[in-house]
This record gives sequence, structure tokens and C-alpha cells, in this order.
Amino acid sequence: MFEVAIITASDKGAKGLREDLSGPCIKQIVEESDYKVVSMEILPDDRALLADKMIELADKEIPLILTTGGTGFSPRDNTPEATKDVIEKETPGISEAMRMYSLKITPRAMLSRATSGIRKKSLIINLPGSPKAVRECLEYLLPTLDHGLKIML
Ligand code: MTE
Repeated sequence: MFEVAIITASDKGAKGLREDLSGPCIKQIVEESDYKVVSMEILPDDRALLADKMIELADKEIPLILTTGGTGFSPRDNTPEATKDVIEKETPGISEAMRMYSLKITPRAMLSRATSGIRKKSLIINLPGSPKAVRECLEYLLPTLDHGLKIML
């Protein structure tokens, strides 16, 4: 059983102006796959704040850090940039696979700039923002992730 941290990137969510549906959706899906959620936070779409949180979680050696939101084209979508600021190794196959699978469902998947990579003993993966997208991406990723995490640790 691997530990997971979930970060929701949402200006409105962080201010309490919008209910975070995607964070709880991730929690439910990963728990069904025998992961243990040890941290769940909603942060504003701020590059430095998001990067600092990822560093803090990686320092705790949480093997999987899943972010949701902030991967699109809006001026405040900063999650991929924050992720690139902190990762030591890119894992492009994960993000490419997620987009390829998602493109079969919606052409709008091309609008996600989601990235992923490894910092210390943590794999950080950006997921898009909606519960629908989260569910679709995790359904595809989770069966293979286990093998990667075992090798990483
Ligand atoms: N991926 C999947 N699997 N399903 C979706 O519905 N929505 C797309 C895309 N990826 C989608 C998806 C849309 S509409 C956008 S704008 C981008 O993710 C970025 O979303 P974000 O800004 O919420 O991260």
C-alpha cells in the first residue's frame, strides 16, 4: 500500500468560493486501489505556493503526489510550471499516455499541459481539474503506476 498526497490547485477553492469535488474524487478512486491518502489540501493557483507544497511533501517521502487543476490555458493555470520547478527527473511517458488515452474521450484533452516527474522518492503527477477528467485519467494510470512506484522506492 502506497501513501498518496493530493493537492487541489484552485483560487476559488482555496478561498472557499467553490467546493472542491476533484480532490475527494481522487481520494475515493485511489483508496479503492489500496492507496492511503495522508494529505489533502486546496491551494491557490500560485506557482511558488504549489512548488513549496510539493517540496514539503517530497521531503516527507510520500511516494505519490497527485495534483488536480491548473493545467489548462488560463493565465492562472500554473500547476505544470510549479511541478517543473521542483522535479529532478521528468516522467514524460505518464503524461503522454494520459493525454493519448484522454484524446480518445475528448479532443479537449489536448488543452491540458499536465506534466509529471520525480523529486527524491516522490512521483508527482498533474491531473486535469474536473472530476470527470480525474476519473478517466486515474482509471488508465493506476493499474501501471504500482510497478513504477515499486521501482522508484
Ligand atoms: N482529460 C480527460 N480525460 N477528460 C476531460 O474531460 N478535459 C480537458 C483536459 N483534459 C478533460 C481532459 C479540458 S476541457 C481542459 S481545459 C484541460 O484538461 C485542462 O484542464 P484544467 O485547467 O482543469 O487542468
